[in-house]
Amino acid sequence: MKKKHFSVLMILMLLTGCSKQLDDINWKFWEYFTENGTSEEVVEEIPEEEPVEEEEKPEDIPQTEEPPETDENQFVLEEPFFTVLNEEKVIENTDNILVLVNKDQSLPADYIPKDLTIPDVPFSFEGDYDKKYLRKEAARALEGLFAEAETENVEIFAVSGYRSYETQYGIYNTYVKKWGEEKTNAVSAIPGHSEHQTGLAMDISSRSAALDLTEEFGETPEGKWVKEHASAHGFIIRYPEDGEVITGYQYEPWHLRYVGKEVAAYIDEHDLTLEEFFDRAIKQ
Ligand code: DAL
Ligand code: ZN
Repeated sequence: MKKKHFSVLMILMLLTGCSKQLDDINWKFWEYFTENGTSEEVVEEIPEEEPVEEEEKPEDIPQTEEPPETDENQFVLEEPFFTVLNEEKVIENTDNILVLVNKDQSLPADYIPKDLTIPDVPFSFEGDYDKKYLRKEAARALEGLFAEAETENVEIFAVSGYRSYETQYGIYNTYVKKWGEEKTNAVSAIPGHSEHQTGLAMDISSRSAALDLTEEFGETPEGKWVKEHASAHGFIIRYPEDGEVITGYQYEPWHLRYVGKEVAAYIDEHDLTLEEFFDRAIKQ
């Protein structure tokens, strides 16, 4: 065989039969370079995935029940305690202990409370008169107020409680003759519109106020004591100072109205008139 032919044959053998050995040699070179870090090849580092914190979905968050919105100036009151009127604004649920009697709404002329009784307290006069009476619940509460006053050496007297429609008619018309209608209406109720007919109101006074029903009573130690302690026994000063624009009557520090301890405490705390109390109260 000629030398030239032999060379061609050798090349063919290398390219075919020896391809396996060539592969092995190539691999070994690859391994050598990569292990020694000399390869130019850049092996892209796959960044380690940071653990992704799963966002809490709103439904996963434990839901605490929202308390219902409450306004501290609102008082939840059972429906029967609201005053019910007919078309003429005459009160229908007259025996309601929270009955609201004022210039806009009246009691029927023939309404007389059924449970009138004389409270066991000192009166400013002798004898058995209608004006000594109060409804039972109010009478017991008044006894509590007077008993507490006595323990603190505060001497107060009951002056005028229940009044019938007819009695109020007489009082009102006497004032009208004396002072005229405008002045009278600021201090005395038209018959049917007086709280005294409910049997839930008592006028009180002290010797220091000459047992009179005057604004001076509010300035006496006894008047101040009553203002401070009345609500604890379920009474409110029904016609407060500066309340005329709402109640329609001048300041009467002597006129106590029984509304029960809970309502009296609320009215006292929030400095309300009875009218304002009902404006804010919610029916249950
Ligand atoms: N003095 C009060 C307002 C009345 O006459 O009932
Ligand atoms: Zn009165």
